[in-house]
Amino acid sequence: MHAVVYEHFGDESVLSLREVPFPQPARGQVQVRVGVAALNPVDFKLRSGMLRMFGRPKRPAITGKDFAGEITALGPDVTGYTVGQRVFGSVDPMGGHGSCAQFVALATDLIAPTPDALSDEVAASLPVASGTALRALEDIAHLQQGQAILITGASGSVGASAVQLAHSIGARITGVCSTANVDYVRSIGADQVVDYKTDDWLSNKARFDVIFDAAASATFSSARACLTDNGIYINTMPVPKLFLAAFVARLTSRQRCVPFLLKTNAQLLERLATLAASNIIVPRIGEVIGLGQVPAAQRRMQEGKTHGKVCVRFN
Ligand SMILES: NC(=O)c1ccc[n+]([C@@H]2O[C@H](COP(=O)([O-])OP(=O)(O)OC[C@H]3O[C@@H](n4cnc5c(N)ncnc54)[C@H](OP(=O)(O)O)[C@@H]3O)[C@@H](O)[C@H]2O)c1
Repeated sequence: MHAVVYEHFGDESVLSLREVPFPQPARGQVQVRVGVAALNPVDFKLRSGMLRMFGRPKRPAITGKDFAGEITALGPDVTGYTVGQRVFGSVDPMGGHGSCAQFVALATDLIAPTPDALSDEVAASLPVASGTALRALEDIAHLQQGQAILITGASGSVGASAVQLAHSIGARITGVCSTANVDYVRSIGADQVVDYKTDDWLSNKARFDVIFDAAASATFSSARACLTDNGIYINTMPVPKLFLAAFVARLTSRQRCVPFLLKTNAQLLERLATLAASNIIVPRIGEVIGLGQVPAAQRRMQEGKTHGKVCVRFN
């Protein structure tokens, strides 16, 4: 089968489109023919070696995590799924597996059924980006109706999902994005929008119950003056300094600092499917490309030049 593979860490030139063996489903796994793979920043971060402190994918490694497609084979002991069923999910990349491939094989705890109402593009766009927003706002911050939340990266895939989710909860939302995206962020539910090109939310006087720093554009020490006394700050770039800040905050104040690291499972994917099928989370599909265009798309994403999800369509 065809897949986009890398042998060494580096820029997008280490990626090549190659013929690799079909993945066979092991016990508790299914094999899926990928209809659409969706790209995320974590793909280029893993490929470049930026995330090596969290583990190194076994190489040769196939790039990409998120996908939607159709089950083509069941491994031993799989129940609850059938061949031909539409599913979506997120590959664990550490074993060298990835979604920029014609087929994936993975555990049923990393997939969920795709609702009929959702296209493969929409379903594939959900796991990492919208999953991060859902875990952060509902499972960690326990965001409530009427609370004030500030969301950075509000025009990006994680941040926009967070704005949509916070809007459905009834929170008071301030979104942070660049000039070109102000109207979009307002259109998906933000009450206030801060244009970071012309304004700095860190120097404004507003205070928030939750700061979801999806763009990882601040630090806990700079953001805490904008938090209520028992407010929570969540940052999507879990660097060692942030873990230290989280530890110190626990000992010294009622404010919380959370270095975020996504853990996906079937239950999270099922919740995302329900939210997307009810049009609460509506991913913005930016472009649909072919497998051969993945290296160039990863470069554009790394340079901040993509807008909305980049989906890779097979066939
Ligand atoms: N730790 C985890 O488990 C985890 C999970 C998922 C994602 N992430 C990380 O979360 C980040 C966002 O992911 P994504 O998929 O949403 O990426 P994305 O779609 O590329 O969006 C990034 C957004 O950040 C915005 N941005 C850039 N600089 C900013 C600033 N100074 N202030 C406010 N916003 C700014 C951009 O807004 P404009 O276009 O308007 O400039 C862009 O829309 C990535 O770094 C990703 O790796 C981490």
